[in-house]
Amino acid sequence: MTARGAFVTFEGIDGSGKSTQARMLADRLRADGHDVILTREPGGSPGAEEIRRLVLEGDPDRWSAETELLLFTAARRDHLERTIEPALTAGQIVICDRFADSTRMYQGLSRGDLREKVDALHDLMISREPDLTILIDMDPDTGLTRALGRQGTEERFEDFGPDLQRRMRAGFLELAQAHPDRFRVIDGGRDMESVAADVHKAVSSALR
Ligand code: ADP
Ligand code: TYD
Repeated sequence: MTARGAFVTFEGIDGSGKSTQARMLADRLRADGHDVILTREPGGSPGAEEIRRLVLEGDPDRWSAETELLLFTAARRDHLERTIEPALTAGQIVICDRFADSTRMYQGLSRGDLREKVDALHDLMISREPDLTILIDMDPDTGLTRALGRQGTEERFEDFGPDLQRRMRAGFLELAQAHPDRFRVIDGGRDMESVAADVHKAVSSALR
């Protein structure tokens, strides 16, 4: 953690409970007296929210895999410039629902092996890693059932099905093993309050 704020991200497969846990953590840290902003990707700034609509709505095949990677990265760059960096400079805790690890997994794995391009583009255009990443780990079948239970028009990646979700889960766990300094893995297959208590404990101890 830096003296100038802290950057905390949530990662995991669709339906693992990231958005729920990000909200609950923001509430708890605010109750502890911290200055917190809650944001998300793709999105989190006006320009990036426009790009979100381009990548998550409409015909899933409207973009090539490479173009899609550029769009997610463009959204992240805008979000970083306009929302994340200013908040960190102001000393706030930034809680972000998904960040670059999602691109490593989704664009890196889902439509051919683009992982090298993902990493090269990240180095060139983003560079920043979170101070702390909470990986909400869970069984993909449960995650998919939860995700499909939500109503919405953003079905883009959930449509890929259980096999891809299984590869994503394994990929996220590998990332966590490769970067134990910033990752904490939390079992998401429990009731919301139990998960939230573990998340709060992990983040509070890292903030100290
Ligand atoms: P994500 O952001 O990872 O896709 P969400 O937080 O949107 O996941 O949760 C997906 C769905 O599962 C939502 O309908 C949410 O209310 C529900 N949910 C979240 N956490 C739990 C939990 N621990 N137990 C049961 N249902 C949950
Ligand atoms: P999100 O709203 O977090 O979906 P969910 O709540 O279902 O987890 O993210 C929308 C989708 O965008 C999700 O399927 C993952 C995908 N995504 C990428 O493919 N690449 C990225 O870099 C990011 C941030 C998200």
